[in-house]
Amino acid sequence: MSEASAGLRHFLRDDDLSPAEQTEILDLALELKAAPYSRRPLEGPQTVVVMFDKSSTRTRVSFAVGIADLGGQPLILDADTTQIGRGESVADTARVLGRQVSAIVWRTYAQAGLELMAEHSGVPVVNALSDDFHPCQILADWMTVREHKGSLPGLRVAYVGDGASNMAHSYLLGGATAGMHVRVGGPFGYQPDLAVVADARRIAETTGGSVLVTDDPRTAVDGADVVITDTWVSMGHEDEKAERIAIFGEYSLTSELLAHADPEAIVLHCLPAYRGLEITDEVLEGPQSVVWDEAENRLHAQKAVLTWLLARAGE
Ligand code: CP
Ligand code: NVA
Repeated sequence: MSEASAGLRHFLRDDDLSPAEQTEILDLALELKAAPYSRRPLEGPQTVVVMFDKSSTRTRVSFAVGIADLGGQPLILDADTTQIGRGESVADTARVLGRQVSAIVWRTYAQAGLELMAEHSGVPVVNALSDDFHPCQILADWMTVREHKGSLPGLRVAYVGDGASNMAHSYLLGGATAGMHVRVGGPFGYQPDLAVVADARRIAETTGGSVLVTDDPRTAVDGADVVITDTWVSMGHEDEKAERIAIFGEYSLTSELLAHADPEAIVLHCLPAYRGLEITDEVLEGPQSVVWDEAENRLHAQKAVLTWLLARAGE
């Protein structure tokens, strides 16, 4: 397990997958939802470490269940009970973990840390959320959209709220990869990283998708097929809570804002949701909301990612 394989791949950001690879993994996720125990790449059992520097409910549970479903054994670690939490380097941690486990799943702050882990571990590394991206969530979201809308290319996706968040960045890259028209509506000062927007535009040119960033939530939502929001106070920004709530007020996903979308639009939210802030109770619990399917699909999508990465690690 310590020797790097020629075909070794990681999933650190959404554009680590080509459009064809993203489709392949979504196909596999749907297959695994229909037949949960049909793939056993971790039979042995092999161990996958799942490490958390930030809180989690969905990611923790779905990886633990998914790894067991694939025949493996999850080892769930919280950073503050490991030496990495006391300052051991990421590179040294990666070399130790890579000699004992088949894959590393990590929720952390800096994207650069994930890149270091991937560089030194010799096993597939999966981003379970960083400050910059949440790519596992986007696979679950696109799987959910496929279930409700049939196919992804050409769909209009609107994300409103904190446009500088990990979720906004992942929707841009993952949406462009899927050939969707992605619009992000967020206030000035909370709009996506320009480098991510440029990467998304480059991808969209090859897939027939497009990217629009605006400070007007109505422009973002107008005619959309899929409407999405996320918390205004991502993990790590708790000190800015009052300021953010004041700034983001007009970006709340209310029934009034949703009325500007296509009447058949579906609503996604990665959860946890803060009802009355970024989304109203009425919208979250309303007939257009598919958030519980979305939460379940984390399990199936992540099993697909692990199966796909492990197949390449063995090449
Ligand atoms: N959506 C999501 O990643 O949820 P958790 O923070 O509970 O893992
Ligand atoms: N943007 C949120 C996502 C939580 C799943 C955060 O980073 O806290």
